[in-house]
Amino acid sequence: MAKKGNIIVGQSGGPTSVINSSLAGVYKTAKERGFHKVYGMLHGIQGFLDEQYVDLSTQIHSDMDIELLKRTPSAFLGSCRYKLPDIHENPEIYEKIFSILDKLNIEVFIYIGGNDSMDTIKKLSDYAIVKGHRQKFLGVPKTIDNDLALTDHTPGFGSAAKYIGASTKEIIRDAQGLTYDKAMVTVIEVMGRNAGWLTGATALAKTEECEGPDLIYLPEVAFDIEKFLKKVSDLLKKKVSVVVAVSEGIKLDDGRYVCELSGGANYVDAFGHKQLQGTASYLAGFLKHELGCKTRSVEFSTLQRSASHMASRVDINEAFMVGGAAVKAADEGDTGKMVVIDRVSDDPYMSAAGIYDVHKIANNEKTVPRNWLNKEGNFVTDDFINYIEPLIQGDYQPFMVNGLPQHLVLKK
Ligand code: F6P
Repeated sequence: MAKKGNIIVGQSGGPTSVINSSLAGVYKTAKERGFHKVYGMLHGIQGFLDEQYVDLSTQIHSDMDIELLKRTPSAFLGSCRYKLPDIHENPEIYEKIFSILDKLNIEVFIYIGGNDSMDTIKKLSDYAIVKGHRQKFLGVPKTIDNDLALTDHTPGFGSAAKYIGASTKEIIRDAQGLTYDKAMVTVIEVMGRNAGWLTGATALAKTEECEGPDLIYLPEVAFDIEKFLKKVSDLLKKKVSVVVAVSEGIKLDDGRYVCELSGGANYVDAFGHKQLQGTASYLAGFLKHELGCKTRSVEFSTLQRSASHMASRVDINEAFMVGGAAVKAADEGDTGKMVVIDRVSDDPYMSAAGIYDVHKIANNEKTVPRNWLNKEGNFVTDDFINYIEPLIQGDYQPFMVNGLPQHLVLKK
């Protein structure tokens, strides 16, 4: 049998607490399947264009390192938000990419990322087919936003949802402990741009001993600030502590993001996405002004995507599985595809890796179905909770050193 060549893997887009578990899955499966070298691109395709890559065998020396990698948040290899130009706009860039791939004897190119990153897989696999290049291109899903089409959910989402559910419970406890005769409204801001999957996860806080958030606003429904004010003021007539969860991406009827009202969202990335931040702080200020009560805003910000100490076991294992499945698919001849997670059963929860044409996934956003929100659009339904609950189960204890989680860090 002919000896296999090499494989290269990159990480792209906003990191998650389990993106490195997918990297570990790619590495382990590539080694098991007899690929000669496994390279890692540093900072995704952007670094690759500058010939920044590393032989992963210089970084991962043992099964223990694999285990550590699975427990390490953020992108071990470094990430990027880099939009590959269309082929006709810049053919030289494609020639450069393929000349580096040939130089490194790469047979398989794997990219771990979200819908923008799948655009890179789509373009490179199309180019390879048209120009007759031998390399296979496979996508591995990743995003806390859970907004990728055709996969039941995305690796990274379950762990972020677990962190958000747990932290929301803690915020509610904290607020209730401090409110006696003076009212307080806490506004929590959750990531997720145009999809409210993560914001809805605050409803997980509603448990036997916790009443959960009072209101939840997702970007899927236009935000009416006057109705919101009335709702909060009505709640304050019944209770002293009100907790509201809002998505960073809630928009007014006229299309403006709420965070733009306070001058936020000035920064725009390569894909034209505005950086959304400041929604909770704006609304907390607004409520304080209108209602005269104490308010507080909490932004989970990057914590929600890097809290590997709260990672879900299901999520870490699935992230590992999809990494391995991509290598297997490419090795068996697939290209221009993304691995997906299929939900096989709910009780007991079981999932399996499937595969789809990346053209149907790239640049699409899967949002929360309207019927998973209540009529008023200010809370999620039981169907929503039933969908998420299996994804946050189990934990994956970090290796603690001197009281803190240990991580695997790239040695340059
Ligand atoms: O795509 C993942 C994500 O975490 C989004 O939820 C969020 O809007 C965005 O990334 C933030 O990106 P950055 O950290 O680059 O500002």
